[in-house]
Amino acid sequence: MLRAVYPGSFDPVTFGHLDIIRRSSKTVDELVVGVLNNNAKIPLFSVEERVKMLHEVTKEFQNVKVMPFEGLLVEFAKSLNAQMVIRGLRAITDFEYELQMAQTNHKLAPDVETVFLTTSLKYSYLSSTTVKEVAAFGGDISQFVPEYVADKIQEKMEKKECKS
Ligand code: PNS
Repeated sequence: MLRAVYPGSFDPVTFGHLDIIRRSSKTVDELVVGVLNNNAKIPLFSVEERVKMLHEVTKEFQNVKVMPFEGLLVEFAKSLNAQMVIRGLRAITDFEYELQMAQTNHKLAPDVETVFLTTSLKYSYLSSTTVKEVAAFGGDISQFVPEYVADKIQEKMEKKECKS
């Protein structure tokens, strides 16, 4: 049984992430989307909210699970008996960080292989950060994230406006 982990912050999940989930889930028996609960960053969405959104937008994929994780990615992968970590590469700017992360993870856990999928061209510009920025200024994010996620972002932005 080939199990892979696709880790990330997913704050929020975009069509680019979903493209990687759809394509990588076809190549493995089970894909676990690992949602990092990182106390060092203040995300827009809590880890519970990010997991819920991912559950909702991946429900059509039979072999995809969504789980939160804390700490080292390789420990999470090992706890699941996952042999592979999947990461998406959008552009050369991603490469240096991804290479460093993959090589560090390889040192920590040589049996866990990192496999890169190049993001589909139509999503190569897309990131969670730019989606949040566009939404914060009232722009249309419907081409970047599923409708369910766009609605959740909208709700967050409205709550933020009420507070300020
Ligand atoms: O979506 P992101 O923010 O690019 O994902 C980054 C992520 C979650 C894959 C990375 O930060 C991670 O694996 N964090 C867990 C801590 C860890 O294992 N670090 C060692 C690798 S250098």
